[in-house]
Amino acid sequence: MDIKLLSGALGAEISGVNLKDTSLKNFEIINNLLLEHKVIFFRRQNITPEEQLTLASRFGPIEQHAYVKGLDEYPEIVRIIKKPDEKNQWGENWHSDVSYNVKPTKAVILKSIKIPPVGGDTMFANMELAWETLDESIKEKIKNKKAIHSSLGAKFFIEDYKAMKSNGNYDEYSNEHPIVRTHPETRKKILFVNWTYTKKIIGMDKKESDEILNEIFKHQARLDFTCRFQWTENAVAIWDNRSVQHYAIADFFPGRGLGHERIMDRIAVQGDKPN
Ligand code: SIN
Repeated sequence: MDIKLLSGALGAEISGVNLKDTSLKNFEIINNLLLEHKVIFFRRQNITPEEQLTLASRFGPIEQHAYVKGLDEYPEIVRIIKKPDEKNQWGENWHSDVSYNVKPTKAVILKSIKIPPVGGDTMFANMELAWETLDESIKEKIKNKKAIHSSLGAKFFIEDYKAMKSNGNYDEYSNEHPIVRTHPETRKKILFVNWTYTKKIIGMDKKESDEILNEIFKHQARLDFTCRFQWTENAVAIWDNRSVQHYAIADFFPGRGLGHERIMDRIAVQGDKPN
C-alpha cells in the first residue's frame, strides 16, 4: 500500500488497496485510513454498484437522501449529474451533508462515472483543525452552544439542476446540534456548523449570531485547512462527514468552450446524533 498526502491539512490518495475486496479485514484498513486522513481517494477502481453498496454498508446502515431520487435499480445511489450546458452543480458550496437531519451522514462513498477534461474538482476542509485554531474569544462564546441547521438553508435546490431528480418530498428538516461536537471514534473536537445549512446560534440574538457565524464560516474556509482532489474516471472518494466539509467546484464557465458532462454516484452512510 502507498499513501500520498494531498495537503498538510487532510486527505490521502491510497494505492495498493482494492475496493472490490469488501472483506472485513480490508474494511478495517480503509476505516483506519479514513479516521487518520478524514478523506481518502482511490483511482482505477472499476467497482460495480453492488460493490460500492457493500463497501458503504460496512460503515453502517445506508442513508436514503431526503430530497433526491435514487437510481431506479439502486435507490440508495444518488446520481449527481451536471449537464454540458450547465454552470451549476450539486454540492457547490461548503457543507457537511444533511447536517439538518437528527443524525447527519457519517460517511460518503462517491465514485466518478464521467469526468470533464478539466474542472469539477472537489475540495475538503478539516473541521478538527478549524476548531483547534479558532479565535479564543469566539471559542468562549460558542463552546456550550447549539445551532439550528435547516434544509431550507440551502442556497440551491434540486430543481436548480437539470438532470437531478426530486423524490417529491419538499418538507423542511430542521434540527439543533452542538456547535462543537466530539467525534464518536477519535474523541476529537470538531467545529460542526456550515455555511449551507446552519442558520442561527440558539440563545443569541440574530445579529450577534449572524456576526459570529459569518466569522466562523470565513475561518472554516481557510485554504490551509483544505485539500483538493482532481477526479479521473473510476476514482472513489470516501469522506468522514463528521469531521470534514466539502465543496464541489462549479468552474464551468460558459464561453470558455468547456461544456462537458460530469457524473458521480453517491452513497451515504447514516451517522449518529452529534454530541
Ligand atoms: C456532494 O456535495 O456530495 C457532491 C460532491 C461532488 O460531486 O464532488
